[in-house]
Amino acid sequence: MTILQLINQRVQAALAAAGAPDAQPIVQPASKPEFGDYQANGVMAAAKALKTNPRELAQKVVAALDLEGIADKVEIAGPGFINIHLSPAYLAERSSRALADERLAIAPVQRQKVMVEYSSPNLAKEMHVGHLRSTIIGDAMARVLEFLGHDVVRANHVGDWGTQFGMLVAYLVETRHAGDEDLALNDLETFYRNAKVRFDEDEAFADTARNYVVRLQGGDPEVLKLWEQFVDVSLKHCEAVYRKLNVGLKREHVRGESAYNDDLPVIVKELREAGLLTEDDGAQVVFLEEFRTQEDKPMGVIIQKKDGGYLYTTTDLGAVRYRHKVLHLDRVIYVVDARQSQHFAQMFTICRKAGFAPAGMSLEHVGFGVMMGDDGKPFKTRSGGTVKLIELLEEAEERAYQLVSEKNPELGEEEKKHIARVVGIGAVKYADLSKNRMSDYIFNWDTMLAFEGNTAPYLQYAYTRVQSVFRKAEGYDAAAPVVITEPAEKQLAVALAQFEDTLLAVSDGCYPHYLSQYLYHLATLFSRFYEACPILKSEGAVRASRLQLAALTAKTLRTGLGLLGIEVLDTM
Ligand code: ARG
Repeated sequence: MTILQLINQRVQAALAAAGAPDAQPIVQPASKPEFGDYQANGVMAAAKALKTNPRELAQKVVAALDLEGIADKVEIAGPGFINIHLSPAYLAERSSRALADERLAIAPVQRQKVMVEYSSPNLAKEMHVGHLRSTIIGDAMARVLEFLGHDVVRANHVGDWGTQFGMLVAYLVETRHAGDEDLALNDLETFYRNAKVRFDEDEAFADTARNYVVRLQGGDPEVLKLWEQFVDVSLKHCEAVYRKLNVGLKREHVRGESAYNDDLPVIVKELREAGLLTEDDGAQVVFLEEFRTQEDKPMGVIIQKKDGGYLYTTTDLGAVRYRHKVLHLDRVIYVVDARQSQHFAQMFTICRKAGFAPAGMSLEHVGFGVMMGDDGKPFKTRSGGTVKLIELLEEAEERAYQLVSEKNPELGEEEKKHIARVVGIGAVKYADLSKNRMSDYIFNWDTMLAFEGNTAPYLQYAYTRVQSVFRKAEGYDAAAPVVITEPAEKQLAVALAQFEDTLLAVSDGCYPHYLSQYLYHLATLFSRFYEACPILKSEGAVRASRLQLAALTAKTLRTGLGLLGIEVLDTM
């Protein structure tokens, strides 16, 4: 059991013994050290419900509260808060257990089959900064869920279907005839732009393109082959980004929109059978009472257009149906821009009504805000164009390289490059993952690469600092008991014990910034401990115990950063 679960359970039992079996214990980490380590704040509400005096009820709860071996002091404060001081021996024992176990003694959760769908760029163009947040947040979520013991399915729902692909295939054929295909495909942005120019300017080209769309949708093998070649090149561009980002998306995780092509007529058929479809001006529409138009009428979601074409929603319905029927998922997490929230809300509602997803299958849209430039407007190049993701990441590495070269000019070239990669990419990821995903955030090189404040370099540096303690220590006893006496030791140990609760909170609401906040807090407490409690200058059992706390801090930082997809360094 996690520390929070344990205390909650005990306070719950005490509330029941004190005559309030239905009350919520409301246990949380104390807001200040004076209030102990944890506070139970549920007594006031319980007293109100029972129409009794809160302090009296608090006394009864404390009298019944069994925290033997967990807390060494429990006090009542204010109108009926219960302040809980954890016992040093209990914290020491938890620390030792975490040190001895590869997974930091984190208990496996009730295993679910969870899909994290993320990145999902449209393959017609190259990945741009708009795909960064989904890719980073999704990857962190997949790592956390996997670490907790879930069966995680990563999914890259790429946009690889639709009318644009006719145009792109037509242009591919043209460049191939001209013998400059390889060069043209080097830069997909330009490839797309040129194809569009041809499409707009040349009627014959546009006709060929339209003809390719029809043949593609009809499954013509010749056109399909050309389309596959284009998709392959585009995916290679994406994979270069994933590699640079150290993101675990591989070819086998790609199942694009095209994969649901054959299911689309089936979706229409099943929606019709379920009595959900209405014909409206030639189109097939599902009207949803739950969503209202401005005139307060049920909102219509188009499933099939008048011309027979299907829509983004239709494909998503096909995907849910597949994810249930074939993959039997318990939970699907869609890491997609918050601006698509209405699409997902409506699509999920249709799924429930049509039975594409049973009630037990959780469908969650994990939205996120916009990445802004320093000017507070959506991030663009100086000339106002979209920023290619690969170029942004290269710039991160270059900037970090400058930093490292200034800080440590004596390092070898290879080492500088390695550090630059780990720090530069880490900084970009952490800048994103340290903010509440729902808010927009300002992308600023100087803040994200700073060695002070809540940044990746700060945390990575905190880690190397601990590593340097071990280099200087020249050997340490990995089995030495942890003994907690000083307040700074205790606070560090409390924070170390909260790792598991933090991960559970991340996994519940899909908020990776809880983990970032936690790691920053931990690094800050380590600094305080490091100043208040000399490690190498102390002796015997005290020294050995402090080294143990340092070792657990390093292990927790490394594991936590790793779950955010950020690497650490032994020196930097
Ligand atoms: N390809 C889409 C885009 O770039 C995102 C896809 C999100 N996932 C989904 N199942 N709709 O906007």
